[in-house]
Amino acid sequence: MFSSNTLSRFQSVETPFYYYDLQLLQQTLTACKAAADKYDFHVHYAMKANFNEKVIQKVQQTGFGADCVSGNEVKKAIEIGFSPDKVVFAGVGKSDREIVEALEQNIFCFNVESIQELEVINDLAAKCGKKARVAIRINPNVDAYTHANITTGLEENKFGVNQWDLPACAEVLKKSANLDLTGIHFHIGSQITNLNAFKSLCVKVNEIKAWFEERGFVLHVLNVGGGLGVDYHTTEETPIADFEAYFQIFDEFLERKSGQEIHFELGRALVAHSGSLISRVLYVKNGIKKHFLVLDAGMTELMRPALYQAYHKIENISRPGAQTSEDLKYDIVGPICESTDCFGKEVEMPESFRGDLIAIRTAGAYGEVMASKYNLREQIVSVYSGS
Ligand code: LLP
Repeated sequence: MFSSNTLSRFQSVETPFYYYDLQLLQQTLTACKAAADKYDFHVHYAMKANFNEKVIQKVQQTGFGADCVSGNEVKKAIEIGFSPDKVVFAGVGKSDREIVEALEQNIFCFNVESIQELEVINDLAAKCGKKARVAIRINPNVDAYTHANITTGLEENKFGVNQWDLPACAEVLKKSANLDLTGIHFHIGSQITNLNAFKSLCVKVNEIKAWFEERGFVLHVLNVGGGLGVDYHTTEETPIADFEAYFQIFDEFLERKSGQEIHFELGRALVAHSGSLISRVLYVKNGIKKHFLVLDAGMTELMRPALYQAYHKIENISRPGAQTSEDLKYDIVGPICESTDCFGKEVEMPESFRGDLIAIRTAGAYGEVMASKYNLREQIVSVYSGS
């Protein structure tokens, strides 16, 4: 629940807006850093989850690196203060300009997703008189048991190099004078709550690592990506993902040589709980079969429910403690001209009225950053508590 101070601040801000609890964010980052340090693991924050400036400043101050997926993310990370040697650049479609700019910045490494991309990076590095550090992103064909739209490590997905292409990949690496292999990279999907998926990933990483080492390649880094899920149903006051349990799996199941670094690319688990989308009820439509709360926020501000049928807890924060009843359920919808513009169906809520403030929780990851201008909506603003 929000403190009374925070609630009274909300009254003076025009809705909708994102609210970030910077204290909870800091607690989460600190917990993750402590758990990672225990095993000497390195975390690069997946900036795509949330590149709000205050958020990434905190991430940078905690000592994490940055995992970027566009030239602009690389630029932003460096501008914020991430040291280039802690910046990795991933993505299936890096443009020549983005590659050259990242080479000029001397970033730590490119996570390369195809054989052709390896060749292009080698050519561009030669033209710039540079050696590009690369890690090969390999598709391990491991099921992440998550929503089909956010699973990435199966052979039918567009990401990474498939295992049958590894010999060709090794050939290109051997003959490319301007490539320097740092290691291998994996990412099997997002919002993974069944930790067994990570055990299966470790088994595959061990196999593929052995394949490379048998052929004389030295792998300095094993990058196992991100994907740790969060509890969108949580009722805890300070919900923080169980980083310890997550890292412990990799410590137990991943084989590493001395000096070999283990890298992670966590996004959601670091930022999701600290953000909420705050909105107001514009209209209450009472029907015979259905009751609707029409909010002033829509899928343009938080796309996850429309795109993945994602669940977000919805609370009427103007009526804390008010009774709910089985008999009063609302479809909570937005103002956008699309039927999928719906945050929740048949949601049990206290009787709600025009002007009530509604919080859509656990929206700190893939929320603000996925906002769109559809229907020529206003740019969403952010409000913070803590420092
Ligand atoms: N590394 C790579 C290569 C990735 O593609 C991603 C996320 C991550 C790391 C970070 O994953 P995380 O720890 O956040 O799960 N928009 C979707 C999620 C898309 C995830 C894309 N890749 C959503 O709202 O659920």
